[in-house]
Amino acid sequence: MELGLRIFTKHPAQLIRNIIKPLSKQGIEVINHDAQINGPCIVFFDDVNGEITACIRQMSNGGLNRVLAISSQGSKLDQKEKWTILYAGASDVLTWKKNEILVAMITERVKRWSMVDEIVDSPTVRENLIGRSPAWLLLLRQVVEISRFTSDSVLLVGESGTGKELVARLVHKLQQQNNKGRLVLLDCSTIVPELSGSEFFGHERGAFTSAVSARDGAFALADSGTLFLDEVGELPIRLQTELLRVIQEGTYKRLGSNTWKKTRFRLVCATNRNLEREKNHGNFRSDLYYRLATWTFRLPPQKERKGDILPLAHYFLKNLCQGKDSPHLDKAVQDYLLSRQYPGNVRDLRRFIERVAARHVGPGPVTIGAIPEDERRANPFIAETWPDHQFESTIRCALLRGKGINEMCDATRETAYNIVLKEEQNDTDRSSRRLKISKRAVQMYLKNRRSGTGLTGSDTLCSAK
Ligand SMILES: Nc1ncnc2c1ncn2[C@@H]1O[C@H](COP(=O)(O)OP(=O)(O)OP(=O)(O)O)[C@@H](O)[C@H]1O
Ligand SMILES: [Mg+2]
Repeated sequence: MELGLRIFTKHPAQLIRNIIKPLSKQGIEVINHDAQINGPCIVFFDDVNGEITACIRQMSNGGLNRVLAISSQGSKLDQKEKWTILYAGASDVLTWKKNEILVAMITERVKRWSMVDEIVDSPTVRENLIGRSPAWLLLLRQVVEISRFTSDSVLLVGESGTGKELVARLVHKLQQQNNKGRLVLLDCSTIVPELSGSEFFGHERGAFTSAVSARDGAFALADSGTLFLDEVGELPIRLQTELLRVIQEGTYKRLGSNTWKKTRFRLVCATNRNLEREKNHGNFRSDLYYRLATWTFRLPPQKERKGDILPLAHYFLKNLCQGKDSPHLDKAVQDYLLSRQYPGNVRDLRRFIERVAARHVGPGPVTIGAIPEDERRANPFIAETWPDHQFESTIRCALLRGKGINEMCDATRETAYNIVLKEEQNDTDRSSRRLKISKRAVQMYLKNRRSGTGLTGSDTLCSAK
């Protein structure tokens, strides 16, 4: 496992070497960080200033790279400074006290990240939950960590068609437990009020007129496994109370029985309602809300994960072809897919691909003529207006954090440079064309960036390994 290294401290190199050497014994090699490296990094720093936050922001790449920020031995960070570093994009902020403790703190964190990444890259996740856009990847990392390392309850919120059921299945699949039970799905929006007790609790023979034989309910079926309550916002208040009791006590009685039975399950709930608002309005019990929302994950809508549109489209096409070679999408169809709106999110995209595939015939790629007529009218190829709503919400966030227009302009410039230089692999010609500035300006920017890295003794440190 490799850790990138940046140093912003006047500490003698020897002190840092004292940390790096034992790390390599733990299988963690510390290498000189360069802006192109993707992966976890550590930053050693003395003071919290603009240089260090800019560096962390750049290294973290929107949260995709984990950055461990470590303040120098003896330095005292106040709460505000720790939060400043965290908000700049650090995954954690550590204070250097004793070498051995620091080494253990770094090692355990890096190991945990590596375990999470291994699962995120495993066929179970990669082949079923398509997408590697930043929003989707950050969600997957959180879901994987909580599913694998805890048995806590999980609440999945998000618009319709964003993949809540798919993620619920993943939570169950990843849970590590001896003699794991099954995943039981219950859609709370389809529960018939008169029979709802039986759906949950099961019943004895003769418990009510149509109970011709005894039957297990969801609580019994999910024992040692996972109970997935879909559309949990629709759960009637009476059942909310009963569910809360079962979660707390771990016991229930079948309808028509006086015997208490035991059950233990992981609870995963999903809703596209704003459950917190429902709770505040008294429509959802707050004690139950806190029980089932130990972890709340918000699934990003399709418009926040545009980078996943084409991989998802290819995945759906491949599934439709069932083993046969699936056709490619020609450029015009790809552009159309990228410009289209998806109010029904991934489900909408899947349906669209099904419709297009139904019209596609012959060899060669899927061409624009396969796009259904009604689609063409409803979604003419229009370039999206800019600035869009996402831009507005980013600015709103910055204003809320007290940022002024100059800071916002600086951050925008820095972000645009970072994105383009990375995508164009530091090619000044192509970058200047995309940024619509002179080649000279790009060269100057790169020069300043190189001289401002603050890499004081790391070259010698790394070659010393
Ligand atoms: N990342 C993904 N990779 C592959 N398929 C996906 C992905 N996300 C969603 N889907 C597919 O999109 C469809 C909708 O997903 P799912 O049923 O999980 O959404 P949902 O959030 O539960 O929707 P609803 O709120 O309407 O119940 C399913 O066919 C699912 O397989
Ligand atoms: Mg669903």
